[in-house]
Amino acid sequence: MPVDVLIGLQWGDEGKGKIVDVLAPTYDVVARFQGGPNAGHTLTFDGLKHVLHQVPSGIFHPHIINVVGNGVVLDPVVFRQELQKLTDRGVAWGQNLYISKKAQLILPSHRALDRISEEARGNTKIGSTLKGIGPTYQDKIGRTGLRVGHILLPDFQKRYQEAVARHAREAGFHHKELEIEPFEADFFSAVEFLRTLQLTDTEYLLNDLLAQGKRILAEGAQGSLLDIDFGTYPYVTSSSTIAAGACTGLGIAPRHIDKVYGITKAYCTRVGSGPFPTELLGETGEQIRQAGREFGSTTGRPRRCGWIDLPALRYAIMLNGVTELHLMKADVLDSFAEIQVCTHYRLPDGTRTPQLPDPGDLAHVVPVLQTLPGWHTDLTQLTEYNALPANLLAYLEFLERELQVPIRIVSVGPDRVSTLFQ
Ligand code: GDP
Ligand code: IMO
Ligand code: MG
Repeated sequence: MPVDVLIGLQWGDEGKGKIVDVLAPTYDVVARFQGGPNAGHTLTFDGLKHVLHQVPSGIFHPHIINVVGNGVVLDPVVFRQELQKLTDRGVAWGQNLYISKKAQLILPSHRALDRISEEARGNTKIGSTLKGIGPTYQDKIGRTGLRVGHILLPDFQKRYQEAVARHAREAGFHHKELEIEPFEADFFSAVEFLRTLQLTDTEYLLNDLLAQGKRILAEGAQGSLLDIDFGTYPYVTSSSTIAAGACTGLGIAPRHIDKVYGITKAYCTRVGSGPFPTELLGETGEQIRQAGREFGSTTGRPRRCGWIDLPALRYAIMLNGVTELHLMKADVLDSFAEIQVCTHYRLPDGTRTPQLPDPGDLAHVVPVLQTLPGWHTDLTQLTEYNALPANLLAYLEFLERELQVPIRIVSVGPDRVSTLFQ
């Protein structure tokens, strides 16, 4: 079965981009199946750091076909910027990038609606990236969205005007109050650019490649706890971020899926609002933030930091059918005397549970923490899994026992080379 899926098990930013880049040489295709410019996937190699938002993370390997699947919401302006940056850095992407004609288009008015709806939420803001993700998926589900394929039709301009008029009406605004005029010229020139790319029915492309025996890596964005169904609703994103989303987001049948790589940090972070039981609001949280450089790749916002959360991970592992874990940013905990792990939650009625309660109740649980000794070793200098310090190995064994999934990769630095395979 030639399709493997790589997904985040927490609230995003686990290090998915780095691992896709590391594993990519063993695949023929890397395909994004959901999300859009809300994602920020960082890849570091040869002394350069690249942040990708909508372009799949296999783009630096010339032999790999990169696909933006139908499940994605695509902002042409951001896409053009990203591709321009790659061109400036000498990356030849022209031949090996394909975009689904069924992917949804993010319009300037979707971005405006994202902002307006966040403002209207007062003190229950989602903490959206304001990239227009929610409103674009709303149009998709509402069957009113514009797709990438629509830009090839002669009446695209008219469809665009109708969509904007509808958006203004639904927001109870006059067209002008959306304040999108300054962005429209740029949008249309980015659409012109998009027309020159390889737009196709990527479900046929992918299934043809599968028939030829090619191997596909499906690249998830966001994380399982941001999933529209199973995440900490309503503080979630608007797509299916779990492994199952790869089937609907690419047009690949479930029987093709083999491995599911679950990416988690050695601790936990979250950007935006919503419950986070193991969050550390004091000095320790700040220490993780500084050591892990925990500031958003897309928005630059400081990420909230806390200890690793096993009830949440168990839930994500179950939903995704994770076959192997990749533990990221272990080096960030190098200087900690003690590492804490949340094994259970204590509910308001005093009972202990290893499971995730209803999202509404998650704000009221108290994490039950177990303390393990730190390793006090500079992991960034290590090149062999076997050379990991005993206390880190004990931490890994503890996690494997609690989660019942093998850890296959330990990441000890942002660079491609700082990746230890068991
Ligand atoms: P993604 O959205 O899941 O691809 O993750 P991001 O790129 O948003 O955030 C992960 C951040 O951690 C990036 O800045 C990476 O360069 C960095 N990173 C990834 N793996 C490691 C690691 O093992 N150690 C350290 N120190 N940084 C890492
Ligand atoms: P990657 O792929 C971390 C969060 C936002 C907000 C919520 C909804 O880099 O891991 P949205 O703009 O999607 O409507 O925002 O989801 N969020 C992410 N957090 N990493 C991401 O992507 C995220 N994409 C969205 O901060 O809380
Ligand atoms: Mg990210």
